[in-house]
Amino acid sequence: MNTKHTTTASSKIEPVKGFSCQNVHFTWKDSEQPVDVLKDVSLQIHSGEFVSIIGPSGCGKTTLLNILGGVSKPDSGTVYLDGQILGSSKQGVTAPTTSDVGVIFQDYGLLPWLTVRGNVAFGMKMSGIPKNEQKNAIIELLSKVGLLDFANHYPHQLSGGMKQRTSIARALANQSQYLLMDEPFSALDFQTRLMMQEFLTDIWQQFKKTIVFITHHVEEAILLSDKIYLLSARPGTVLEEVTIDLPRPRNVADAKFNEYRNHITSYLQKEVLKSFEEQNAIPLG
Ligand SMILES: Nc1ncnc2c1ncn2[C@@H]1O[C@H](COP(=O)(O)OP(=O)(O)O)[C@@H](O)[C@H]1O
Ligand SMILES: [Mg+2]
Repeated sequence: MNTKHTTTASSKIEPVKGFSCQNVHFTWKDSEQPVDVLKDVSLQIHSGEFVSIIGPSGCGKTTLLNILGGVSKPDSGTVYLDGQILGSSKQGVTAPTTSDVGVIFQDYGLLPWLTVRGNVAFGMKMSGIPKNEQKNAIIELLSKVGLLDFANHYPHQLSGGMKQRTSIARALANQSQYLLMDEPFSALDFQTRLMMQEFLTDIWQQFKKTIVFITHHVEEAILLSDKIYLLSARPGTVLEEVTIDLPRPRNVADAKFNEYRNHITSYLQKEVLKSFEEQNAIPLG
């Protein structure tokens, strides 16, 4: 199994095409007690890769995604996007342009007053695609995500899987090279989730996107990813980088798949226990 234990404090990350984080720290200071959320996070996400981030609840995954999206800035450390400084403690935040990075949330983030077509068109407007080119492009995208017959439906008229496909179509319409996905499938039922995993793999391969995917679901991460970063309990730091060396489509019954599953599950159990202990949620005996 190809795993790399990171000694992040001293290792120097070379900016690549894609995201590079070098020794990123983040602390919430708006409460009485400052909360250290990310500590010494260094990682690299190459253009075209599918990278998952796993970690116990509250370890800073969403915070890290917000930093990659240029929404938050680190207290120290540097983030590069395609070799350009995105956010650092000294230079302040340079937000990526809307066409660089698209964000897909667990709760879909759709505009409820717009139809499926309207939500996707909104993505195109944001990236300045001329109106006369929008119509055909929308039809093509909606047929790719299997929603052509639902173009005039409003979000409340759609199932969870359809809402998430609309959200993905909007990010694709935006022509974002980078898709940041924060537990996008966690509100979906089991069967829909399996279909969406397959769908996302197709989209990633067809459109050659770079995907940063946050999940709690170990099997999902192994099924989808080129590489998985395992974060520690808060303050989140990268404990390990696991390269998934399995051909696609992947088989959950495969012996090597099982090795990855056991390895990552035992790491996660340890870190979840640590975060419970920190919160005194269980008696320590
Ligand atoms: N606005 C905020 N003010 C103070 N603390 C926050 C704020 N948002 C999140 N946190 C805290 O930061 C930690 C990390 O949050 P988050 O990045 O959402 O974790 P995750 O996505 O891994 O569950 C949590 O302990 C959370 O309580
Ligand atoms: Mg989160």
